[in-house]
Parts: sequence; structure tokens; C-alpha cells
Amino acid sequence: MFGLMSSPMASQKREKLITSLPPQLRRHLKIRAFEHGLDIQDATEHAIQAWYEVEDVPEVDTTGAKTWGTFLPSGEPDRFKSTCSERGVTYVQGLAQALTLWLEEHPSPSAPLVAQPVVRVIVANQKGGVGKTFISSGIAQALAESGRRVLIVDYDPQGHLTAELGFEDLMYEDGVETLMMHMDGTAKGDVRELLVSLGGERFGDRLHLLPASDDAFLRDVALSKVSFSEAALERALEPLEDDYDVIIIDGPPSLGLNMDTALYYVRRRDGELADRSGVITPVWANKASHRAFRLLKTQMDDLCRKGRIQVDYLGLVINAYDSRRGKLVQENREQWEKSSSPSVLAVIGDLKEGREAADGEIPLLEYAPDSEHAQVMRDLAKELAV
Ligand SMILES: Nc1ncnc2c1ncn2[C@@H]1O[C@H](COP(=O)(O)OP(=O)(O)OP(=O)(O)O)[C@@H](O)[C@H]1O
Ligand SMILES: [Mg+2]
Repeated sequence: MFGLMSSPMASQKREKLITSLPPQLRRHLKIRAFEHGLDIQDATEHAIQAWYEVEDVPEVDTTGAKTWGTFLPSGEPDRFKSTCSERGVTYVQGLAQALTLWLEEHPSPSAPLVAQPVVRVIVANQKGGVGKTFISSGIAQALAESGRRVLIVDYDPQGHLTAELGFEDLMYEDGVETLMMHMDGTAKGDVRELLVSLGGERFGDRLHLLPASDDAFLRDVALSKVSFSEAALERALEPLEDDYDVIIIDGPPSLGLNMDTALYYVRRRDGELADRSGVITPVWANKASHRAFRLLKTQMDDLCRKGRIQVDYLGLVINAYDSRRGKLVQENREQWEKSSSPSVLAVIGDLKEGREAADGEIPLLEYAPDSEHAQVMRDLAKELAV
């Protein structure tokens, strides 16, 4: 996504510096580097060089820092580490100081040219059962709890999300219009009529669901008859966008036209900042997940190339992680964390509250607001630029 300009530094031999960064700082760095036409690694290198020249840098809050790595010219990681030791700061603190200084000295070149549109996110992986529904629902709840207006779209024909939130009956209603009808243009009514509001004091009527319907299984076939089918979901959801800060799509466990419409919908729009809208992919720490991710990436790259669009990877979430499952699992996690793109936004343990909430058809943040699972969702929600 980045690396639009190749710098002369790119040809030098580089060494990896692995440390941690707080999520917000990482996101600001990514966006600001992009705005200045710089690689993240070049921006980081400049930041560290400038930090060497400044004494008494104020301490930066690094809570929530997560593993992060970048490549620096040969010898630089060692120089950075010894400077940190001389100054009596941790590597995390040193890097956070350097990047904070860099951000202060490199303000956004201009205010965005257009008002920033609603944030559109799909939680996607064609692999089944990896936690798409669990994560899209959890992030949506956490964002609503923090005051955002959130629409969550059950875009999986199986309708698990709809059922887990207690609205299964809506999927089989006769004589009502459906999302598919709004996608193929046969609906007469307002798409708002499809929405339901999730109760619960902590959501304050800010969390709405667009439920699945039983015609969704035929969506791929139906879409093949629609002209400009990639834009079908966009046509259906556009009238709702002004009502929300963020729209989250719970993706299907399949690739195909249905998935293409969702990927197309979350593309970066003209004038939209990078890494606001895009794709979050839950993965497991195993080999099959790596294969599945490569397949998803191929599909995305293909759609982007053919459609002349850009879809941003917002990051991966390693889900249902249990280090007791042995060395292979741990190595696998490290493998995800070491590859620089997309970054790992969170590691979620295998915990019982998520399952219990789903079985009981109660939103997780209502069922177990103080649980580790709920907290993980709040942290993950902070990764989004909403
Ligand atoms: N971190 C976790 N800890 C415990 N249970 C989890 C966790 N993540 C997901 N689950 C449970 O695992 C099951 C599968 O998760 P989920 O339905 O979110 O996956 P999915 O990717 O949406 O599946 P599908 O492809 O069928 O849509 C659910 O019962 C869910 O409650
Ligand atoms: Mg699901």
C-alpha cells in the first residue's frame, strides 16, 4: 500500500528493529508518512535520527503498545538500542518519543480535501469459524458504547450474527423487502425499514443491525444478473451512510461475487485518508490460516487491479489463541507478527464469554461487560479511525 516513492535508502542493506508501539501512534505514523509520500521505514529512520539530536525529550504514554517492527540501515538498530540505554529509556519509550517528535514536526500537509466519509469496514475471511461474526459484533458494540453511531450488516447468508443477537425470526419473514432487493434495485421502500436497533443502555440506541434474510443464499446467482454488480451493496447502503459514523460488515465464509461487492464497498474513496475504511481479517495461529489468507489476498489484489480501486488492509486479528497448544502455535503467531503487512491489531484468547454470549443471544458487552473478551473488543475498536 505504501512505498509509493522508492527512496535511495531502499537499496542499502537493512536490519530489523523489533519493538512495540501504541496503536494510535502506529496509525498516525502510517497516515502521516503516506501524506508526506514517505515509506513508513524511511519516516521512522528520519524520526530516530532527529531524536538523537534532541535532549530531554518528554515521556510519551505507551500503554497498549503492541509488537511492531521496521527495517533500518545496517547498524542502526544497535545504535538506537545503545542510545536508549544511555538515556535510561526502554526501546518502546525511545521509539515512541522519536515518532511523536516526528509527527509534531511533520504536520498533515493539508486538511482533507473532502469531508471524510463514513468509515466502512468488512471483517473478512473465506475460512469458516475463525471469528468474523464474533469480532464484527464485538467491535460494533464497543464503538457504540463509546458514543459512535454504528451499523452492523449481517452479510453472511447463514445469518449467525442475526441469530446471535436474538433476531433470527426476522430472517424468515414473508412479504418484506430484503437487502438483496435493495441491491438489485427491485425494492420499493426505504432501506431503513430493514434495520433493527439493539437495546441495551450502554448502546444508547446507537447500535443498529441490518439482519440477514433467507434469500441471501442465492445472492451470487442474483448478482450475476445485475449490471455493475460490484456496486450493488454500495447502492443499497448509500442512503444510510449519513446516519452512521461507521458501518461494519460481517463477511461470508466464501469468495465470489457477494464478497466482491463487499470488498468494493470498503474501497478507499477519492480524497479519503488511507486506512480508515478497509478489511480486518481474523486468523488462527495455524498453517491453514496462512493459506486461507493468501487466497483472500489474491482475490483482493485481483479485484483492485481489475476495478482500478484501492482496498486497505486495516490488519489481522489472531483469534482463539491459546499458547498452551504448543510451540507450533506460538511460532505461527510470531510468523504473523513478523510480517510487516498487514499488521496484527490484536491477539484474542480462547475465552468462554464470547461463546456464552452468542449462545444466550445477548450482546457480549451486555452479557459480560467486565470480561477480558469485552476489554479486548474495546481495545480493538480503538484501532479504527472512527
Ligand atoms: N476468541 C474466542 N474464544 C472463544 N470462542 C470464540 C472465540 N472466537 C469465536 N468463538 C466462537 O467460535 C465460534 C465461531 O466463531 P464465529 O461465528 O465468530 O466465526 P465466523 O468466522 O463468523 O464463522 P462463519 O464462517 O461460520 O461465519 C462461535 O461459536 C464463537 O462464539
Ligand atoms: Mg460468521
